[in-house]
Amino acid sequence: MQMILVTGGAGFIGSNFVLDWIAGQGEAVVNVDKLTYAGNLNNLTSIRQNPLHHFVQADICDTEKMAALLAQYQPRAIVHFAAESHVDRSILGPGAFITTNINGTFSLLEASRAYWSALPSDEKAAFRFLQVSTDEVYGTLSADDPAFSETTPFAPNSPYAASKAAADHLVRAYHHTYGMPTLTTNCSNNYGPFHFPEKLIPLVITNALAGKPLPIYGDGQQVRDWLFVNDHGAAIREVLAAGTPGETYNIGGWNEKTNLDVVHTLCALLDELKPKADGSSYQTQITYVKDRPGHDRRYAIDARKIERELGWKPRETFETGMRKTVQWYLGHQEWIADVQSGDYLKWVEQNYAGRTAATEPQ
Ligand code: NAD
Ligand code: DAU
Repeated sequence: MQMILVTGGAGFIGSNFVLDWIAGQGEAVVNVDKLTYAGNLNNLTSIRQNPLHHFVQADICDTEKMAALLAQYQPRAIVHFAAESHVDRSILGPGAFITTNINGTFSLLEASRAYWSALPSDEKAAFRFLQVSTDEVYGTLSADDPAFSETTPFAPNSPYAASKAAADHLVRAYHHTYGMPTLTTNCSNNYGPFHFPEKLIPLVITNALAGKPLPIYGDGQQVRDWLFVNDHGAAIREVLAAGTPGETYNIGGWNEKTNLDVVHTLCALLDELKPKADGSSYQTQITYVKDRPGHDRRYAIDARKIERELGWKPRETFETGMRKTVQWYLGHQEWIADVQSGDYLKWVEQNYAGRTAATEPQ
């Protein structure tokens, strides 16, 4: 029986990918996740009894464990999502980002290289290692710069972005030096179901519903490109199936928005779908707080390569994706309550306590 190995499949993007894979591909998945604060088995409840899903709690930094899992499950491909993923956490504590994103990727590459080297030649040629990465490796853009392409030089600005860039370089080197059939995807900001509420969109939805402030860093004019999470998953499936080993593919939604635009869109959707009892708009909860240090001003993705070569295009528009997202959060109050446990409250205190709120940009 063929199967793939996914790392980080209990996190936001990984769990959406695993759910879609099981529903659409009919191929087994071994899902390897350490279950850090960001990993959540509740994301996988609907496939708990599914024989195609094998969950293993393990750390990608444990090379021997990774080697044992590869020997046991004999996957035809690895899709590597596991990472520390939050920029603000990387600013307050970069160590975990170096450990997991750099050393962990190295451990996984070493275990994969040993496993791949010993495969029969047809399986060796068909094997794939897909590194799931970010547009943040390219740094920041001015308002009229062209969007990031696959040849834009790396210029990471946060410890998170630098750790992902280092991992991408290792993956590249394993292809160049050992001939390992690697693929790398660099994607823009995802949003959708199961998004942990430390990130802007789920934070704003959950704070709005709880009557709490909606914190805008700096002037709120930073630009991100937003992609619905299941469109990212579809792009990864295309790259895995038909991407050229050694190549990288940028993935994006052609949805450049300022943070303030995003927050206004969310408030308008909430005003429509869950109006406040006092008739006021959720926009009245917007507050401006101290900016993120080294805050990248603009990201934009040129996704023409994956569209041209692999025929992928996003299915959701920003409007349809945002509506689905807000509806999902409104229907999953228990999931929200569960993730907002003690550790989450500690994080909110650590990140926001020193950022005094104001009604105007600071
Ligand atoms: P996430 O933080 O929601 O999930 C990360 C998952 O990795 C969690 O389940 C966690 O338990 C697991 N993990 C962390 N350290 C581990 C370790 N040492 N061993 C095994 N598992 C470990 O992250 P996400 O937003 O789903 O991002 C997934 C991947 O996609 C990351 O590599 C990230 O860099 C990349 N990415 C994210 C976005 C985005 O907008 N969120 C965009 C582009 C790329
Ligand atoms: O671009 C892809 C990246 O997108 C991924 O690689 C990262 O894993 C993912 O976390 C995301 O990074 P960002 O830093 O762009 O996402 P975040 O949701 O943290 O922030 C989005 C924007 O909103 C950013 O400009 C910072 C701002 N922001 C964020 C928070 C949490 C606020 O204004 N207020 C907030 O409270």
